Amino acid sequence: MTAQHQTVEALLRQNHEWAAERVRHDAEYFSRLAAIQTPKFLWIGCSDSRVPANQITGTEPGEIFVHRNVANLVVHTDLNVLSVLEFAIGQLKVEHIIVCGHYGCGGVAAAMTRQSYGGVLNKWLRNIKDVYRLHEPALLACAEGEARARLLVELTVREQVLNLAKTATLQRSWRADHRPTLHGWVYGLEDGLIKPLLTMEPGHDLHEIYQYENL
Ligand code: CO
Repeated sequence: MTAQHQTVEALLRQNHEWAAERVRHDAEYFSRLAAIQTPKFLWIGCSDSRVPANQITGTEPGEIFVHRNVANLVVHTDLNVLSVLEFAIGQLKVEHIIVCGHYGCGGVAAAMTRQSYGGVLNKWLRNIKDVYRLHEPALLACAEGEARARLLVELTVREQVLNLAKTATLQRSWRADHRPTLHGWVYGLEDGLIKPLLTMEPGHDLHEIYQYENL
């Protein structure tokens, strides 16, 4: 049965089967997980149903703290992502933050057009249009269509990693605890493989206008 034909009742039935299967393999599975949450990774990914953080990284519940939104953006006025970031750094004390985009991202493709989506979606996608404007020469040097869309996916990931580094929350943690390391990745829907794009170690040199002096 394909995902498209699933019913809500089927999801609940499969949940029961999954839980029973876990306990059959490992009687302590849920009692152990429920007692402790100590993920070392924060994942900021796209809401796209084809990019599930745990499955594509071969990890289990409890191993990755996950935030997902349309086109995996880190927006400085988004209370949701900022709360996740503060909690992950301050309470969970994660050692790595991964921003994972994906080729074939509908949000990025939509932002490359001049179509209005109304409501709040235009405002959200405008963040990607800003990435486009910032890197227009490189994008225009790239063949129109698939190649250019793939490049914008990568550039968008790079800018979101930079957006993390611009926050006082992150800079304070880098200075005080020398963590977390930031990673920009892109996932390929066509082959299931993740391509690492960049890594920013704690203390990475940012443009000085973003560096806070009084943390
Ligand atoms: Co997407």
